[in-house]
Amino acid sequence: MKVLVVGKGGREHAFVWKLAQSNKITKLYAAPGNPGMAQHAECVNIEDSDLEGLADFAKKENIDITIIGPEAPLDAGIVDLFESRGLTVFGPTQKAAQIEADKDYALELMHKYNVPTAPYETYTDATVAKNQLKEWQHPLYLKVSGLAAGKGAIHCETLEDSYKTVDEVLVDHKFGSSGDKLVAMGFLDGEEASIFGFTDGKDIVCIVPAQDHKTIDEGDVGLNTGGMGAYAPAPIITPELFEDIVERVMKRTVDALAKEGRPYKGILYGGIIVTKDGPQVIEFNCRMGDPETQAVLSLMKTDLMDVITAVCNGTVADLDIELDTRAATTVVMASGGYPVAHETGFPISGIEAAEALGEVTVFHAGTNVKDGQLVTDGGRVLAINAVGDDIRASIDKAYEAVAKISFKDHYYRRDIGHRVLARLEE
Ligand code: AMP
Ligand code: GLY
Repeated sequence: MKVLVVGKGGREHAFVWKLAQSNKITKLYAAPGNPGMAQHAECVNIEDSDLEGLADFAKKENIDITIIGPEAPLDAGIVDLFESRGLTVFGPTQKAAQIEADKDYALELMHKYNVPTAPYETYTDATVAKNQLKEWQHPLYLKVSGLAAGKGAIHCETLEDSYKTVDEVLVDHKFGSSGDKLVAMGFLDGEEASIFGFTDGKDIVCIVPAQDHKTIDEGDVGLNTGGMGAYAPAPIITPELFEDIVERVMKRTVDALAKEGRPYKGILYGGIIVTKDGPQVIEFNCRMGDPETQAVLSLMKTDLMDVITAVCNGTVADLDIELDTRAATTVVMASGGYPVAHETGFPISGIEAAEALGEVTVFHAGTNVKDGQLVTDGGRVLAINAVGDDIRASIDKAYEAVAKISFKDHYYRRDIGHRVLARLEE
């Protein structure tokens, strides 16, 4: 089969790395790809925003399946476009992708179909919002309804914080049209986990749960980022909780979307908080998580192409995904200053030495090649993943690998997996 992966981050590198192990693939392309992906795939210079260009390429090269990594092209309707041209594509349609791209819609759906989540309300007018928010208990979350690259959820400790956010979003339009609707959501207290399911719109198979560390600073404080590290499995999700989440969150949502005439195909990502009242949804995403993908796919034994084919063929009911019973940890190395202003273009060294440790894979997130030298080219630069016999072993191995890699002003969190280590010490 000829396969095209769309995207250029660490998540897509992990897809390409895993797909390269499949004997069903005769030719692998990535668009636009990155230097890490170029080790396994031919990179073609088409951005993920160029939907027509991607469809033209898939048609011309007779691509059998195109796999969409990021949410932006899904929200822009890449699946609808490909399908209208008779091309097979892995990912949800634009209408189904609204589960991520419109938080107001997602919460309405969850409430309608009794998927456990927090109370919410949506505002478009600043005066109305401020009046109503007086009635809300704080802390709470205010979220721009549209896509905001992981930066659109604002923790409001006090009513003053809420007022400030209302002004930023509904008056100053800091988030552009993504902030046309502002969603207030009750605060969910507890530990977070990411659940990923492969679905064809009828059935869903969920794989090993992961935990992500979203903030820039150690101790899970500071500004939100795309994700600074992850590990899997996340022990907070016991087998009983997992069953419960699969039934009441993941299956229920797939059924709900089908009933609403928006059958969902691809990966459904449930962001869960385990509260004292059980698991509750903070959000859904219409794609895999980054950097959770790097950890999770390193534990998948089944050929990823078989899983993707089952989703595209509507045969997920017959799918049995075999998982490695060990653990994986991913540590993100970022440019100093990220998630705000940062410099790029610095030479990167030590990747080979890191991978020589064994069971270590260095995924590229923001890299480029200049004059034959690998250089930094983004906020999140590399995601270093290690597999170990248990979580602790995978964490130690990941940090051993990180220590081998260097570039100017690099930053990484030294506490990825701290919650699970603390629990082990209890
Ligand atoms: P989101 O962009 O919706 O994924 O939110 C980003 C982060 O904010 C999440 O990973 C959570 O840590 C936190 N968060 C979002 N919504 C809530 C909520 N309702 N209660 C508690 N934490 C939340
Ligand atoms: N790592 C969180 C996300 O991909 O949304």
